[in-house]
Amino acid sequence: MGKIIVGKTSDIPPGKMTKITADGREILVANIDGNYCACDDTCTHAGASLSGGVLEGGIVTCGWHGAKFNCMSGKLEKFPAKIRNLKSYRTIIESDNVFVEF
Ligand code: FES
Repeated sequence: MGKIIVGKTSDIPPGKMTKITADGREILVANIDGNYCACDDTCTHAGASLSGGVLEGGIVTCGWHGAKFNCMSGKLEKFPAKIRNLKSYRTIIESDNVFVEF
């Protein structure tokens, strides 16, 4: 298990998300009303980058075909087909820095 810095808390204001690469994985990091969360960035339907989608509340909507995932848990919330949940990751705030444990 590793830990990677994402950036300053001010780099990801509430309602925004970003993408980082850690150990060959692409991870989406989002700020939900001041709470940071992280999950896989790659949509389990056809591989779109979810950070290119839309974030509303704690739900990220894939920009390609509209799958909705819960950013905190990685759980699929809505899609007509059965597709896998995303892996979620723990976020850590230390001295105004955001880290993801992977
Ligand atoms: S690639 Fe994300 S919904 Fe199809």
